[in-house]
Amino acid sequence: RRYRKTIIAGNWKMNKTATETKQFAEELKPILPKAKWCDVVVCVPACNISTAVRAFKDMRVSIGAENLYYEKSGAYTGEVSADMLKDLGVKYVIIGHSERRQYFGETDATVSKKVHAALDAGLLPIICVGESLEQREAGITAEWIALQVKSALVGVSADKLRKCVIAYEPIWAIGTGKTATAEQAAEVCTAIRATIRSLYGARVARSVTIQYGGSMNPSNAAELLAQPDVDGGLIGGAALVPQKFVDIINAAN
Ligand code: G3P
Repeated sequence: RRYRKTIIAGNWKMNKTATETKQFAEELKPILPKAKWCDVVVCVPACNISTAVRAFKDMRVSIGAENLYYEKSGAYTGEVSADMLKDLGVKYVIIGHSERRQYFGETDATVSKKVHAALDAGLLPIICVGESLEQREAGITAEWIALQVKSALVGVSADKLRKCVIAYEPIWAIGTGKTATAEQAAEVCTAIRATIRSLYGARVARSVTIQYGGSMNPSNAAELLAQPDVDGGLIGGAALVPQKFVDIINAAN
């Protein structure tokens, strides 16, 4: 664990207005622990990034985006580029969340392009992978995840890989209240590190932060985060509530 950062990141998804973003920051400020043991990230909708950067300025909280478009600039109505995010003060960007794969046509190919766009702009990508319930029941979780990881990392140098975070989010555990057991989470996160090791070697593999996501909450966080290859969490619902978010940050200690 000492080779890599623990990262507790909230993924707000399509929640909170700019006003509510400020309220969250105000409520968080007095209860946020110093948390030397982990990096704290809040990923907010693109339209609220400026507000979030200002609202969390004096706190040890980095701002993340939830998506980007891989082209540098141009005629792509409605899209936001990596440079635009970087310029606003964004540090992390979630790429390939299963909701984007499911509802917005994200594929392993677009995920790969977005990973490169993020890295080229100096953003740290949080690359999401995860299997469906059907795939888990068919016994193909390991192969599926390895394929997603390898596809996302095509053409990424070892140096750049150190800037990547992988988030394992079993689709069946997202927003369902059904958490993967600590064993299930650990098994897949360990397998992800093995995949990275096979591509980049042991030294690089042990430096990569691998998060778990899917119904993580204050009561299950400690057990999940105690697993050797679970280096943090990507948290949806529970991250919308300041006290729950803090409880999870404390559980990482
Ligand atoms: O990216 C976080 C996520 O998909 C998990 O959401 O609400 O199950 O914590 P939730």
